[in-house]
Amino acid sequence: MQRGLYFPSGFLWGTASSAYQCEGGNTNNQWYRWEQQGRILTGEQCGDAANWWQAAETDFELAEQMENNALRLSLEWSRIEPAEGQWDSAAIDRYRAMLADLRQRHITPIVTLHHFTDPLWFADRGGFAQVANIRYFVRYVTRVVQALQDLCDFWVTINEPNIYAILGYQLGAYPPGEANLLLAVRVLRNMIQAHVEAFYAIRGLQPGAQIGYCLHYHLFDAAIPFSPLDRGVARLQDTYFNWAALHAAETGRFTLPFNMLLAPITRASGARDYHGINYYTREMVRFDPTVPAELFGRRFTRRGAILNDPGKENFFGEIYPAGLYRVLKAVYRRTRGNKPLYVTENGFSDTVDDRRPRAILEHLAMVHRAIDEGIPVRGYLHWSLVDNFEWNEGWGVRFGLIEVVPYIQQRVPRPSASMFGEICRANGITESIVERYAPGAEDAIFGATDTAQRRIPV
Ligand code: BGC
Repeated sequence: MQRGLYFPSGFLWGTASSAYQCEGGNTNNQWYRWEQQGRILTGEQCGDAANWWQAAETDFELAEQMENNALRLSLEWSRIEPAEGQWDSAAIDRYRAMLADLRQRHITPIVTLHHFTDPLWFADRGGFAQVANIRYFVRYVTRVVQALQDLCDFWVTINEPNIYAILGYQLGAYPPGEANLLLAVRVLRNMIQAHVEAFYAIRGLQPGAQIGYCLHYHLFDAAIPFSPLDRGVARLQDTYFNWAALHAAETGRFTLPFNMLLAPITRASGARDYHGINYYTREMVRFDPTVPAELFGRRFTRRGAILNDPGKENFFGEIYPAGLYRVLKAVYRRTRGNKPLYVTENGFSDTVDDRRPRAILEHLAMVHRAIDEGIPVRGYLHWSLVDNFEWNEGWGVRFGLIEVVPYIQQRVPRPSASMFGEICRANGITESIVERYAPGAEDAIFGATDTAQRRIPV
């Protein structure tokens, strides 16, 4: 008998992307300035990116061919409000055309209102580091939701406030390149407050909309599981990176010591209709007194792990499917199951596509297992439909189901794309899919729900 892992009916299948990474021609945000300062590691510039501003529809057609029923994309605030208080109706019209195109293909648009980029005028006023600037974000959100609400009712207010704050304000790896822990937590606090206020603004306009935000979840495991020091520092990193933001968003308060330094987030409780989960990888952590800036935990990729492409070892090293199950379980438990969950991003940088098919299958098996155990996961959005401009890495790493040959805009579907199409069509994973795309992985995939493999630590 053929084995299969089927998903609940109405499950959302699709991909996720962001405006800066796909649209091209964005020259009015802080990432453009970062590029001009030569901060992209490959020395490249985003330029035309994947050319979505001109021709997103040709890629939407590929999503339709894969029978995706959802697609997450973001709006570029700096196009819509190029200068403070000035609104560009042509930009809104272009987004209207994209959303209308998706809908006529029976693809539900999921729209992110902020995905890392800020208009230059907003950045120059201090961005989210200034609590007074939250009102600008809420005004922009109100404006676009008014303009697009007949075409979209599924919103992600802010993508990954934890990455934006930590990479931009603590590690200095993203603009504005600050290295100031206290500033980073202030930015995080203000972004969560901005989410809450945007949530209520949208709720007022569209009572039936789905409104949430997504966080990036990264696993930190002790290098030596029985070492109390390794466990302690791994836990510290886990708490700080993964759970401080979720806890603050749920309760309005950060855990100590930060709650003594930060104003509480007002009206936080209940301000979301779902939890958005972005998951990519895990790192091992070893106690090391010489790295106070890393909370005394040196991070590294587990030796012997199956890896993403080299180049981002620290951040996108191991391909670790069980991590997705662990994250889903942990979010569910920590939020006491108060809202449904969506995997709003999960992906792999694999240029030649020799690990991605199996990785997708194994991660989906973990989602299936979570659903089987009663966790209400309602959708899976793969990062990403097409290769796109990967922030500091430029075209150096490739996350697309479909390859983009940069600068000439050629599309070359990878085997993962046809496999993903088959999964969406079947609303699940069949044995025949596994045999053809990941031979040898049958037991790992269909065994994921067997009791023998239930011993994943959570
Ligand atoms: C971000 C994406 C990014 C992806 C892969 C996520 O943290 O939301 O914009 O491309 O990771 O690096």
